[in-house]
Amino acid sequence: MQPDISVNLCGIEMANPLVTCSGTSGNGKEMSRFVDLETFGAFTAKSVTLDKRPGNPTPRIAECTGGILNAIGIQSKGIENFISEYLPFLRQFKVPAIISISATSAEDYARLAEILEKEDGVSALEVNISCPNLKAGGSSFGADPEISGHIIRSVKNSTGIPVIAKLTPNVTDITVIARSVEENGADALSLINTVAGMAIDIHSRRPKLGNVTGGLSGPAIKPIAIKKVWDTYRCVSIPIIGMGGVATWQDVVEFILAGATAVGIGTALFPNPQSVYTIIDNLKTFMKDNSIERLEDLRGQVVVPSEMAQSCAVTVDPS
Ligand SMILES: Cc1cc2nc3c(=O)[nH]c(=O)nc-3n(C[C@H](O)[C@H](O)[C@H](O)COP(=O)(O)O)c2cc1C
Repeated sequence: MQPDISVNLCGIEMANPLVTCSGTSGNGKEMSRFVDLETFGAFTAKSVTLDKRPGNPTPRIAECTGGILNAIGIQSKGIENFISEYLPFLRQFKVPAIISISATSAEDYARLAEILEKEDGVSALEVNISCPNLKAGGSSFGADPEISGHIIRSVKNSTGIPVIAKLTPNVTDITVIARSVEENGADALSLINTVAGMAIDIHSRRPKLGNVTGGLSGPAIKPIAIKKVWDTYRCVSIPIIGMGGVATWQDVVEFILAGATAVGIGTALFPNPQSVYTIIDNLKTFMKDNSIERLEDLRGQVVVPSEMAQSCAVTVDPS
């Protein structure tokens, strides 16, 4: 019998748990040159803004040990262009399309949701709240539980499309933000966005990124992401798309054991977009070899024996 790797993410039927991470596969056209988009369980497009944005000065990417540092700065051609140039392309595929929205005020997030509400072929909105809050001097919206909740509420009031809140790891306690967006109507969570970082060229003594600082992604951040997913899973009842450093089928299993319903893959697609085929095949083989019929049965099944639990409030293996 074939193992069942399908998952249901807040009503979105996905053939498998793999989702592209926003910003790492363009808007579909680009990635479709390398991989059949229907191989993914869902496709998340690059964050789109209301108006055109040029993005940050170059260089925008620096290679680091175990990952990359980026500061793209949400380069976007604007929502009207996205709707005319990319959405019709995405509609041709059976894969659910998740559209990531980004803005610098709650009003603009709501406006984006209102515009996309009128369009066919949008399975969910992913609200990227890791963007700078221009009204508050540029700090990230996603670092403040009240503002995060307010943005999600504004988006929910503007659309009936399922809303996924994408959280930043650059906070002291991600569960406070997660609970706030859940209370304000988020249907699911995506975590994590990139981890704040900086790299310096020792010869020129200049920062390697044009923006000076950026966000780290790739295998180096996976343990951070696993912990954030595990912490959050125990505090909310909405499903989680876990992401950060996924490159192999083992990483996918690890995120699901930590509590993820679906799993994002981003940086790993740059060197090898076709790794998604191997990941899915090997995931099925692992399930067959271990007599696991449904992937969903693994969700949150990390076992923390009592002697390891120490003082953290975890569900302890009764055995
Ligand atoms: C080049 C690049 C661009 C990104 N652009 C976005 C974006 O537009 N919106 C967003 O929510 N996340 C963006 N991200 C973050 C990813 O979606 C993802 O959360 C992060 O990279 C962790 O996953 P990974 O380690 O598998 O890449 C970007 C990441 C990279 C590397």
